Formats: sequence, C-alpha cells, structure tokens
Amino acid sequence: MVQAKLTERYKQIQKKLKKHKQQHVLRFWDELDEAKQEKLLEQLESLDFAELEALLGTHVLAKPDKFVPKDIRPAPFFSLRPKPEQKELYRKARQIGEKAIRNGEVAALTVAGGQGTRLGFDGPKGAFCISPVKNKPLFQIFAEAILANQRRFQAKIGWYIMTSPNNDLQIRKFFEQNNYFGLGPESVEFFKQGSMPAFDFEGKLLLADKDSLATSPNGHGGTLRALKQNNCLEKMKNDGVKYLSYFQVDNPLVSVLDPMFIGLHIREDSEISSRTLPKVDDLERVGNFCLSDGKIVVIEYSDLPENLAQAHNPDGSRKFNAASIAVHIINVDFAERLTGSKTGLPYHRAEKKVPYLNDEGLHIEPSEPNAVKLEMFIFDALTLATKSIIFETDRAEQFSPVKNASGPDSALTCRRDMIRRAARWLRLAGIEVPRNPQGEPACTLEISPLYALDAEEFVAKKPKLEPIKMGDKVYLE
Ligand code: UD1
Repeated sequence: MVQAKLTERYKQIQKKLKKHKQQHVLRFWDELDEAKQEKLLEQLESLDFAELEALLGTHVLAKPDKFVPKDIRPAPFFSLRPKPEQKELYRKARQIGEKAIRNGEVAALTVAGGQGTRLGFDGPKGAFCISPVKNKPLFQIFAEAILANQRRFQAKIGWYIMTSPNNDLQIRKFFEQNNYFGLGPESVEFFKQGSMPAFDFEGKLLLADKDSLATSPNGHGGTLRALKQNNCLEKMKNDGVKYLSYFQVDNPLVSVLDPMFIGLHIREDSEISSRTLPKVDDLERVGNFCLSDGKIVVIEYSDLPENLAQAHNPDGSRKFNAASIAVHIINVDFAERLTGSKTGLPYHRAEKKVPYLNDEGLHIEPSEPNAVKLEMFIFDALTLATKSIIFETDRAEQFSPVKNASGPDSALTCRRDMIRRAARWLRLAGIEVPRNPQGEPACTLEISPLYALDAEEFVAKKPKLEPIKMGDKVYLE
C-alpha cells in the first residue's frame, strides 16, 4: 500500500520534472531505499515549479542587469543629533517608542539563517564566541540585551529568531543547552526560512546527494514569507505586537530595541525604517541608501557604479555616504500586506561554488563558481512601503559586525570595538582607563547588557570600581 502510494507520487513528480526538463534528479531513484525515496519526493514536491521556471529564464540562463535604478540621489535621513527645530520631535519620539515597548507592542527579530561561509566557523554564526572577557556567543549578548530591556521596561518582549533548514536544529539545541541564556523558552520563538535549489549554468537542478537537491536558504528577504508560513504574524497579532526590531546575527554592538528609533518610525507613519551611518571609505562593502523616483532604495556596494561610489560634493564630502547596517523597524501589518500580495520581493542572482553529485554519483567540490543561487533581500521591501524613513546612528556605539575570518569586520576588529566602547563608557563615568602607546585601551573590558544597555544608563549607575591597571580584565554585569 505504502509502496503503491510512493509509486503514484513518483509518477506525478516524474511528469512534472519531464515537463520542466529536470528529470535527471531522479537518476539514482532505483538505488534508494524507501525512506530516501520519500525524502527526495518530499523535497521535489515542495518546489514551486512555475516560479522556478520563470526565474530560470530571468536569473539563471540570463543574467539580470545590475540593480541600479535611474536618477539616483542621496537619500535624506534623520540625523543622530536633532536640529534645533527637531528637538521637540525627537523628545516626543523617544516617549512614543518607550510607551510602545512598555505596552508589549515591539518584538525583536534576528535573522540567523545565513551560512556564514566567510567567517569559516563550523556552526551557526550566533554560536560564535565574541565577547572580550567572558567569550560569550553572539546569541547570549542579544539574549542579555533583551532580558535587560524586559527589566527596564517591565514589559513582555518576544524574540523571533529566523533559522534555516541548515541550522535550525543546531540553533534550537544551542539555546536548550544554554537554558535560553536566562530568557525563558516562552520569550524565544524560532522560525525556519525557506530554501531555494541551486542551478548549474545550463539551468539544471544540482543534486547534493542521491536523495537530495543542493539547496541554500532563500535570503533574509525570505523573512516575511517565513513569518507568514510559520504563523508568526498571527501570533504577533494575538500578542498585540505591532513592530519588529530587525537586526542581523553578526553585530554584537546593535541596540536590539532603540526607543528613539521605534518612536520616530511610529511618529512618522513609516512602514519600514532603517538605520544608517557614514561610510568609512568610498568602497566600503555595505548597502547604500539612495533615493530613486521618490522612493528610498538600498543599492549594494557591488551594484553601485564606481563613479557614483567615488563621487564627492563641492565641499569634499562623499555624495553617497549613507551606509545600511541592516537594522530596521518593520510594521507587522506591512509584513502581512506584502506576504498577502502578488508583488513579493525580487530574487537576486549570485554565482557560487556549490558542492554537487555528478552523473557518475561522485561528490564534486568545485574550485570555481559552478552554480547560481537565488536570494531575496529584506531591503527590497523599502520600495514597497507607503512611507519609509532612515535614522542615523553612531558606528562606534552600534556597529561592528563579525563577517570575515581576518581583516576588516572580523572577530579581531569586533572585540577591539567592544573594548573601545566599554572604555568610552567608563571614561564618561569618570573612571580612568589606561592607554597603550597607540592610544588604545591597555586592558580587556566587557560590559554586559545586563549592567547597562547604553552610555546614558552606564553613567547613571555611577559605577564604583577599583582603579583599572594595564593588562587588567574587567567585567561588569
Ligand atoms: C549585509 C547587507 C548590506 C549591509 C551589511 C551590514 C545584504 C545583501 N547586504 O551584507 O547591505 O550593509 O549586511 O552588515 O544583505 N541571512 C539569513 N538568511 C539568508 C541569508 C542571510 O538569515 O538566507 C542573515 C545572516 O544570518 C546574517 C544576515 O542575514 O545575519 C546578513 O547576511 P549576509 O549575507 O552575511 O550579508 P552581508 O553580505 O554581510
């Protein structure tokens, strides 16, 4: 009976694959036992062949043009420090943001489904240990920040974490083993993003093994669809959550819930808002906020033509200077609207090295890009919003991602920036921090979010410490 059902499903999918000229993925069918046949069938049945066929034409067999809209200009943004006429607005915004958090209207959302290939870390990136004294993993730092916010605002603050089929189990286990870092499982909601199959350059689906396709997560733009499919949007609505504070798993300095940012977003009736800071150089590998046809767009460093990236104003300042740090506030209603509409987020093409099984059944590790991966980006939602605003932030306070094994945006630079920030807060509180000949803190410092979430809170605590000596390790919790 079971076998007959399997055969029927096999025939159905074989027909579909034939229609789309992809029947080669069933090449090893007869060698598979029933469980493996079932696994392959399930994967194939979950594919949206109509969508894949369309993408094959536009993104795999053809290369879509680089995404550069016409007539782009620098995007306007709210500066970190208000102009005199904005002081009242900023003061009100902060109150509005604080009230929304206190009322349980804001949840944190971390996208952690990426593969973290550049870091060369064998495990989910959130498990990467980063803090300078205690060597805490990224997830723990965010968990402590959420816990600190729960205490500060006496509020229920949920934390949604997007995983991918590749790391979902590992991430869930990591939280269980670490007792949810004190948050309690009821505060943490994992949801799995979708994946997309990889194609070779002739448009053929690649096999990872005899019983499975080579797939990869569908990009952080998959967040919206995944929230919908995992019933998270429904849960949010039932819980009274209206705003999502979205951030990436790679930046331990991020402010997980910033009342000012949330308040400005609400006050300005924005549907999706973003944070920016000035680029360190013309070609910094970040997204650029631009204005095109009255809409805010993000153009990746790889897409921004070099002459624009290097354009300067008459006063010497950089023309396109607003970097995206991939921190957003997103309305739950907006996410609902986008997932319910036909205008989903577009896909982007990336040529990557994807290990695969060849016709002879041998595993191949390519040394050159051999495949096309398709990903959606969350920032493409900006153009679909009725209103979108940008708010500046301070790099030294809020941005130092861990992306690479060495060089810029590595564990080394990130720890350095965590120590620098702690030193700055200590000095603001009147505590001396020894310097080395290069002017850097000559000690290792770590301030847990449970001690203070920002400089203001830190100073208000009036910390009393033994004098800090060269080479000391200082941890505050
Ligand atoms: C990203 C942004 C860039 C921004 C920079 C700031 C893109 C294309 N670019 O670059 O504009 O300036 O961050 O640090 O996003 N993720 C998923 N699922 C996926 C893919 C990624 O959850 O399928 C998550 C990752 O876990 C990570 C985040 O998205 O938290 C960023 O992904 P990554 O591909 O590393 O983006 P970057 O190229 O670093």
